[in-house]
Amino acid sequence: MSAVRGSTIVGLGRAIPSRILTNADLERLVDTTDEWIFARTGIRERRIAPDDVATSDLAYEAAVEALADAAVAPADLDLIIVGTATPDMMFPATACLLQERLGASRAGAFDASAACTSWVYGCAMAHGYIAAGMAETVLVVGAETLSKITNYKDRSTCVLFGDSAAAAVLRPAPPGEGFLSFVLGADGRGGPLLKLPAGGSRLPASFETVERGQHFIHMNGREVYKFAVRVIPRAIRDAADRAHLSLDEVDYFIPHQANVRIIDAAAERLGQPREKFFLNVERYGNTSSASVPVALYEAAAGGRIAPGDLLILVAFGGGLTWGAAALRWTRPHRQGER
Ligand code: ACO
Repeated sequence: MSAVRGSTIVGLGRAIPSRILTNADLERLVDTTDEWIFARTGIRERRIAPDDVATSDLAYEAAVEALADAAVAPADLDLIIVGTATPDMMFPATACLLQERLGASRAGAFDASAACTSWVYGCAMAHGYIAAGMAETVLVVGAETLSKITNYKDRSTCVLFGDSAAAAVLRPAPPGEGFLSFVLGADGRGGPLLKLPAGGSRLPASFETVERGQHFIHMNGREVYKFAVRVIPRAIRDAADRAHLSLDEVDYFIPHQANVRIIDAAAERLGQPREKFFLNVERYGNTSSASVPVALYEAAAGGRIAPGDLLILVAFGGGLTWGAAALRWTRPHRQGER
């Protein structure tokens, strides 16, 4: 990227619901076992939001922490982008609900819809606005309440998903710091592999769509798995190439937390040690667009990444979509980190 200025993350926040749904709990709901789930996915437990908590509530909690971390007032935000596959409603956008609640009176607000890749897409858009001089301060949130669209009678999907949110504040940075490259991709031919069929204009909500369970996630897990194993190494390589980095120069990879076997396969294909890949899927399952920023938050909070480190973030999801970004980490440690 040859922009005169780039962007960097100056604050992070997250929201993790307190209720834990364990594999043992799922054994009581569907015909599955802790052994099967852990061996096939690496997941032990996931978080579930209360019935009266919507995506914008988690987004708000994460945003408040990120703004405090960045020492940015809501009124200083130029733009709010919420990446989500589980918006509070079809419209208004969850970003607008968040804008109102934060009192971000000067901010434009819209949602980014690229399933699990939404937060990475949102960061790319925020970076573009900042590099073009159209915005100084952008809030990018990844927030999901996937439990609301998960069918807890379908063992092939209900073991995978969880709820959470994370937010990042982006501000201008000199070229060479912060985001160094972005890769965004889509292949709509794979759309049918992962979808929520009803509730849109193609299949409006009706008694029949509810009866048929068409307001839940439908997924061909095996095909999505193959797609992920193919696309993650490619997206990582492309992000590194565009930033003129070799993979060995990358200190840490922050992948979408969908399945530990997908991450293992990507590490192997790239010839990179597994230890360079951050993992928290065991504790949260797949939280879609929140997954990469929650992982980034935890990698930073746990002192795993330090200022100056080179990172590659990578996500894939419904659409099908994928996205990756190379990033020179600039945010200083907070008190208590490391
Ligand atoms: N417990 C026990 N058995 C199960 C379960 C379960 N929870 N789920 C499926 N099985 C059974 C199947 O019925 C099948 O039985 P059969 O052989 O008798 O037909 C068998 O286990 C194997 O099923 P597969 O689907 O082949 O299992 P696989 O090893 O592929 O693992 C999984 C399934 C975990 C879903 C895997 O395919 C996967 O992780 N795919 C990627 C999913 C993903 O990442 N999706 C999110 C994308 S991001 C987004 O946008 C939301």
